Amino acid sequence: MANLVVLGGQWGDEGKGKVVDVLAARADIVARYQGGPNAGHTIAHDDSRHALHHIPCGILHPGKVCIIGNGVVVDPGSLLREIRDLATAGIEVAGRLFLSNRCHVIFPNHRELDRIREERIRKHRLGTTCLGIGPAYESKAGRKGARVVDLRNREILQASVEQHFRADDGPQSPIIERLGLDVKRVIDEYSRFGDILSKFAIDTTAYIQRAIREGKTILCEGAQGTMLDLDHGTYPYVTSSSPTAGGACTGLGLGPTQLDAVLGVFKAYSSRVGEGPFPTELREGAGEHLRERGHEYGTTTGRPRRVGWFDAVAARYAVRLNGMKAAALTLLDVLDDTEEISVCVAYKYRNSRLTELPSEPWVLKEVKPEYETVKGWRKPTGDARELSALPQEARDYVRRLSDLIECPVAFVSVGPSRDQTIRCEGSILPNWL
Ligand code: GDP
Ligand code: IMO
Ligand code: MG
Repeated sequence: MANLVVLGGQWGDEGKGKVVDVLAARADIVARYQGGPNAGHTIAHDDSRHALHHIPCGILHPGKVCIIGNGVVVDPGSLLREIRDLATAGIEVAGRLFLSNRCHVIFPNHRELDRIREERIRKHRLGTTCLGIGPAYESKAGRKGARVVDLRNREILQASVEQHFRADDGPQSPIIERLGLDVKRVIDEYSRFGDILSKFAIDTTAYIQRAIREGKTILCEGAQGTMLDLDHGTYPYVTSSSPTAGGACTGLGLGPTQLDAVLGVFKAYSSRVGEGPFPTELREGAGEHLRERGHEYGTTTGRPRRVGWFDAVAARYAVRLNGMKAAALTLLDVLDDTEEISVCVAYKYRNSRLTELPSEPWVLKEVKPEYETVKGWRKPTGDARELSALPQEARDYVRRLSDLIECPVAFVSVGPSRDQTIRCEGSILPNWL
């Protein structure tokens, strides 16, 4: 069976968790390839609700192996809490959760630096999750990070922490002073984390490569979304990793030829948390209505999400850039009571009409959406299990979005639970349906 990447086509929170939960039944291994605890993937089952941050959503399927790949930045304390919460819910991870020993770790000063930057430099704030993601990836790229494997070598850990806690030009970074962080205490704490995590930490790349040779199927789970990609998103209002498909290769240690398909997850409208351009944003009544109907509040931070109409310009960009073979369209039911639904088909910028996403932030900030408006279906869709059970207007909407983004729709999600999923016939992802 084919190895598949499932990733967000918009600004995150597209419902990747639910889609991965549905597909994981057919995978042998589910692997996260980037991001860190900034991700919040929610899975709603009939009798329970789980929010996962580092751990792949496949963990809810008994017996499936889950991998946190080398591209993920790990906050050890937060990961251990996640493991404990799963255990409390009766989900055992021992023997089937593996963590790459090459993952970089988030230190307390990374979190603090993230928070200070957001609070102090309000004019330039990005609206990050303040979990230290950007600073941890900076340390990694700056070649002074510590990896999971380093936590078990006191000498290396000490050198890394000391280097970290020193400002480039002075004996001790002001953040460390402010935090009252004691270098020795941090080394002791992270050393302990290293010991506890040692039962999960392995060379995940070697594990995955062996699994592929044995004919096993890998489902790669993206976090965040294409528009938050460090290279391809709405820079600088992005995260610090690569949620796009290439990130699955570097973040897991896979060659491009070992991936067979990319499935993009899109909401039937749009949402964004944090700052940055959002051309189709709905600010007043309609926006509030959509936010309440979609329960659009962050899984990780609880912040109200900004919401807006579907942006087909941005979505088509995501389809092309990731080489998506199919799309999953989620939260269709949230539009059930909407009288008229708008879709952005192009941007207007001064006197020109743009059909491609501009790279200039000042242009994207100024563009106005050109909308196509369609009639809503105004009937509940939550019980539909096949396309033919959807109202005609809803079917037309799905078809129109598929045409606009130039990608076939393989799944339509009409509610949070596993069974509220429509598998579209004739999809080019037959093995996964
Ligand atoms: P992720 O980060 O992409 O995994 O998405 P989140 O979990 O942050 O946010 C998606 C939210 O929508 C979660 O609360 C899901 O339970 C919920 N959800 C997923 N699919 C559907 C759907 O089709 N309809 C509705 N109403 N909710 C959905
Ligand atoms: P999932 O995986 C939505 C956003 C933050 C902020 C920007 C940078 O649940 O889809 P960071 O803390 O990463 O440095 O913040 O990225 N962001 C997300 N938005 N869903 C996410 O993850 C996000 N992870 C980060 O709100 O705008
Ligand atoms: Mg989320």
